[in-house]
Amino acid sequence: MKKYRIPTIETKRLTLRMWSKKDAADLYEYAKNPNVGPIAGWKPHSDQAESRFIISEVFLQKMAWAIVDKDTGKVIGSIGFEDDKFRPDIHSREMGYSLSEDFWGKGLMTEAAKKIIQYAFEVLGLDILSITTSEDNLRSRRVIEKCGFEYEGTLRYAYKIYDGTIEEIRCYSMMRQEYIDMKKRGWCDV
Ligand SMILES: CC(C)(COP(=O)(O)OP(=O)(O)OC[C@H]1O[C@@H](n2cnc3c(N)ncnc32)[C@H](O)[C@@H]1OP(=O)(O)O)[C@@H](O)C(=O)NCCC(=O)NCCS
Repeated sequence: MKKYRIPTIETKRLTLRMWSKKDAADLYEYAKNPNVGPIAGWKPHSDQAESRFIISEVFLQKMAWAIVDKDTGKVIGSIGFEDDKFRPDIHSREMGYSLSEDFWGKGLMTEAAKKIIQYAFEVLGLDILSITTSEDNLRSRRVIEKCGFEYEGTLRYAYKIYDGTIEEIRCYSMMRQEYIDMKKRGWCDV
């Protein structure tokens, strides 16, 4: 069941749109890859049924966009918001994302993330947007830096991932005024 309004958002190379159960085959194709999920804390998908379940019980239950490659029409990733676990009383969200390994290193997630950050401040009207990653996720750390988030610190021994391993959390955030200042300096140009 659809819980949130998910508008379609266009970037230069991508369409960000609501997930559909019909996307299970595309999701499975990238989510079965052990290089994608575990570094973000989630288990590689075992079959298409699991991908269908994740679409209906996870993606469609929160503000999550399917990332569609405009050239092929294929779903190649996901981006969205969750409740900010560290700021329950603040108008805040935590952003998360993942992308098919075939498409890494082309600036695509930075392109998608900047549009979603714009949505966070200009449509949702957030006061602060947060994002976390692990120490060893250098690609994600780079995306976070390119988007202009501020590093807040690292929580040691903070987060149990799907296989029981306990990891640290590198915390970053962007305040509304920082977003406004970066936008004035041409931050939106990807
Ligand atoms: C993290 C992820 C979304 C990045 O997507 P992407 O489209 O490749 O990101 P971009 O191309 O916009 O930027 C990647 C940056 O990392 C850099 N990079 C790549 N490999 C790197 C490495 N080993 N060390 C440091 N930086 C690296 C790239 O050079 C690029 O930076 P640049 O533009 O300054 O050259 C993608 O790798 C992914 O889905 N990973 C698995 C899931 C995941 O980690 N999700 C996030 C959980 S917090």
